[in-house]
Amino acid sequence: MSANPFLDPALVRGRLYRGDGRLADRTHALHRAKISGSDVADTIADLLAARVPTAADVLDIGCGRGTTTLRLADRLRPKHLAAVDASAALLHTTRGRLADAGALGSGVQADFHHLPLPDSAADAAVAAFCLYHSPTPDKAMAEIARCLRPGGTAVLVTKSLDSYAELDHLVHAAGLDPHATSRPSLYESFHSDNLRTVTASHLTVLDVQHEEHVFRFADATHLARYLTTTPKYRITLTGGIAAVTATLQQRLAPPPYTTRSTVSYAVAVRP
Ligand SMILES: C[S@@+](CC[C@H](N)C(=O)[O-])C[C@H]1O[C@@H](n2cnc3c(N)ncnc32)[C@H](O)[C@@H]1O
Repeated sequence: MSANPFLDPALVRGRLYRGDGRLADRTHALHRAKISGSDVADTIADLLAARVPTAADVLDIGCGRGTTTLRLADRLRPKHLAAVDASAALLHTTRGRLADAGALGSGVQADFHHLPLPDSAADAAVAAFCLYHSPTPDKAMAEIARCLRPGGTAVLVTKSLDSYAELDHLVHAAGLDPHATSRPSLYESFHSDNLRTVTASHLTVLDVQHEEHVFRFADATHLARYLTTTPKYRITLTGGIAAVTATLQQRLAPPPYTTRSTVSYAVAVRP
C-alpha cells in the first residue's frame, strides 16, 4: 500500500471510484466553495476547439463522471467521442449523462497504461485530473501519444503540489488528523511542476498555463462535507459529518475558511 492514497491501486479501484457518490460529493462541495478560477471543462474545450478539426475523433481519458466529456461533445461536435475510465460505475454515469444530453459517445473501460485503442486514430485526447493516479505517468503518456495521429493534440490537466495546503493546517489545528500537514501531496506523481517534463517524454509541448483557483467554505458543515470525502486525511472521529462539523466549530476560528489550488494545463501534439 502506498502512503499516498491517490497512488494506492486498491483504494483507487475500491473506495475512491467504485461508486460515483464519493467523487460527486467531493466535487460538489468544492464547486460550491469556488469563488475564483475558470471552469476547467470550458478551458479544456476552448484549448481544443482552437486546434481540432470538425468531425474529429476525440478521447477523454480518465473521464470520471463525464463533466469534461459532455463539454467536449457540446463544443467540438466530434464524429466519435470515447470516454475512457477504469471505473465501471463512473463510465455508467458518463454514458447516462451523454445519453440525457442527446450526445453521441461511447464508454471504454480500460487502464490508461494499456489503452485498447488503435494506433494513430484520435485527433485529440484529454487527460484531466487522472494521471496523478499513476506512479509512472510517462507510461500513460506513451499510450496517449500512440493513440493520437501525427499532429493530433493532447490537453493534460493537473494541480500544484501545494493545492489545498491551507486545509491541511485546519485539519491539523482541529486535531482531526495529527499528520495532516506532513502527508505527501495527492498530486506528487504528476503536478504543475513536472507537467511539462512528463508530457514532453512522448509529445511536443506547445504551451503550459497555470491558473490559481480560490475556494471559500462558508460554514463548518460545508468544510466537513469536503474533508470527509477527500482521501488525504485519516479522520478517525466517529459520527460522520455532524461530528466533524462540531469539532471544527469548537476548535477553529469562525468561518469562512479559504483555500487555493493551482490548475495547470499542457497543450501538446504528437510529432
Ligand atoms: C478525479 S477523476 C477525474 C475526472 C475527470 N477527468 C474530470 O476532470 O472531472 C479521476 C478518474 O481517473 C480514473 N482512473 C484512475 N486510475 C486510472 C487508470 N489507471 N486508468 C484509467 N482511469 C483511471 C478514476 O477511475 C477516476 O474516474
